[in-house]
Amino acid sequence: MASGRKADTEAKPAKLSKAALRKFFRVFRYMRAQRGLFALGMGCLLLTSLLSAAFPWLIGKLIDAKASTTFWQAPLYDMGNVHSILKLLLLVFAAQAFFGFWRIWTFGSVTENALTQLRSDTYAHLLKLPMDFFSRRRVGELNSRISADVALLQDTFTTVLAEFLRQSVVISVCIAALAYLSPELMATMLATLPVVMLVAVFFGRFIRKLGKQVQDRIAESNVIVDETLQGIQSVKAFSNEGFESRRYGTAVRDARRLALTALRWRGGFVSFIIFCMFGVVVFVVYRAALLKDAGVMSMGEITSFVAFSIMIGASIAGIPEQVTSLLKAVGATERLMDLHDEVGEPVHLGPKGAPLALKGSIAFKQVDFHYASRPDLPVLRGVSFSVEPGQRIALVGPSGAGKSTIASLVLRFYDPVQGSVLVDGKDAREYPLTALRDRMAIVPQEVLLFGGTILENIAYGKPGADQAAIEEAAHKANAHEFISRFPQDYSTVVGERGVQLSGGQRQRIAIARAVLKDPAILILDEATSALDSESERLVQEALDELMKGRTSVVIAHRLSTIRHADKILVLDKGTVVESGTHDELIANSAGLYSSLNRLQVDIA
Ligand SMILES: Nc1ncnc2c1ncn2[C@@H]1O[C@H](COP(=O)(O)OP(=O)(O)O)[C@@H](O)[C@H]1O
Ligand SMILES: [Mg+2]
Repeated sequence: MASGRKADTEAKPAKLSKAALRKFFRVFRYMRAQRGLFALGMGCLLLTSLLSAAFPWLIGKLIDAKASTTFWQAPLYDMGNVHSILKLLLLVFAAQAFFGFWRIWTFGSVTENALTQLRSDTYAHLLKLPMDFFSRRRVGELNSRISADVALLQDTFTTVLAEFLRQSVVISVCIAALAYLSPELMATMLATLPVVMLVAVFFGRFIRKLGKQVQDRIAESNVIVDETLQGIQSVKAFSNEGFESRRYGTAVRDARRLALTALRWRGGFVSFIIFCMFGVVVFVVYRAALLKDAGVMSMGEITSFVAFSIMIGASIAGIPEQVTSLLKAVGATERLMDLHDEVGEPVHLGPKGAPLALKGSIAFKQVDFHYASRPDLPVLRGVSFSVEPGQRIALVGPSGAGKSTIASLVLRFYDPVQGSVLVDGKDAREYPLTALRDRMAIVPQEVLLFGGTILENIAYGKPGADQAAIEEAAHKANAHEFISRFPQDYSTVVGERGVQLSGGQRQRIAIARAVLKDPAILILDEATSALDSESERLVQEALDELMKGRTSVVIAHRLSTIRHADKILVLDKGTVVESGTHDELIANSAGLYSSLNRLQVDIA
């Protein structure tokens, strides 16, 4: 299972389809703003590639040249003078170093700038995606989109792409040089060396794959050892020692068979390479010797030829590796662009405007709902109810009845499949989403605090709030007292690297957040269910204070906490089975509410 998860986040090369390529080229849009810098990098790349091809040429010239002057007297350009060529070589290296630096710098900075933009765009887009999307995907997977996939692109654009282009240039220039030196030798060389190199590279890969399979088989047999030794008691009790040893024997023999196959290939491969490589080299040199003997080529030209050939060979050998990397990058961009193509909610990321003037009435009209991931499972069926501004409505019912789903619909995490949700008499879908949510707050059962200070965590309800407002909110949430008992009071760091707060304390921080946000509509989803009775009392007091003057939807596990609600909805399997005040519902002794109530009284 663990390996399956790993495989999922690992970079896989893409199948090269038209669509995949189109997505790959979309990344270049992020480079458009830096066209100039990118062109400069390309120029440097071209120059360094050309300069590196000058090296074999000058070495050949050097061998044929005479030392006709001293180093200092030599003119810069005299292809017959050793010292002139030496000067040229020094110049070539210096120029190559210079342009090499600028190539790395320009490609690097273009990539860094583009990928910074891509990273933040991806993250901003991710945050805008609807809840449906997040219930379909795992957090780890999304995380690796932004970290691993973008890192892969970084690699590709800073080095792999440049290397690939550089080597393509080197190969073309070297082949042209070979053609110039001796078309006949070139034909011999090209017909043999690259073929052998490519066969060697692909063969090498095949053998590595076989080796990996052998390793896997051995790992499998080790699993048997592991299992049997851990469960040795069962093995002995069932007197299955013989069975287990045979099982292990079979697995080990399997691994051996595969290992022998791999060995045969390996032996063949090595012999092949030795024979072909030396064969090709000897053959080319033999042809060269004939040409030299006939006076067609000089010693220096032959040296140049060999040096050009070595460069071609080295460049060709690197290409399969680079193609794999490029394909991986195409795969990574494909996944990233698929993410970009997911339709986001109309969330507004800019600064928040003036708050929406909401009174806070809510009405559900014949709402049907199912989650997109499970269309066969209706979660809400024909749910209708209404709450007046400032009223308190309670949702009760067995777990799985759909209470939290109603809360999610109020927050517009999802929209109804049928029917509508009205806020202040208007369809919730007609409000700007961010502005609407900005007037709502939820206190869930499990509160997540961000790594940071208590002050920052409360301020999350209203970024930019001043210290006085935050402390006032903490007072109202019954939180000020415990916060001021910490030595660093509001600056106390919470979360992973800070103090651990108790459930009740976290809950009161969440309430302070909500107080600060000052919502028109408040949702409490089993806010006190996980607490012991002492913290429950403190949290309940804070909640009562928070609910004053706001429309509240209270989902409660313990019925005692909702006795005074203006209206109680009893839900079962996605439908409203009863509704009314506590007294009305209790009067119907055959109803679900009465029986839930009796159950809880009994427990208490
Ligand atoms: N994100 C989701 N995706 C698919 N099904 C869900 C999701 N959330 C809840 N459900 C299902 O919807 C039903 C109602 O869940 P919920 O509203 O959480 O119930 P309650 O809060 O009353 O316990 C359950 O059957 C649950 O399995
Ligand atoms: Mg729930």
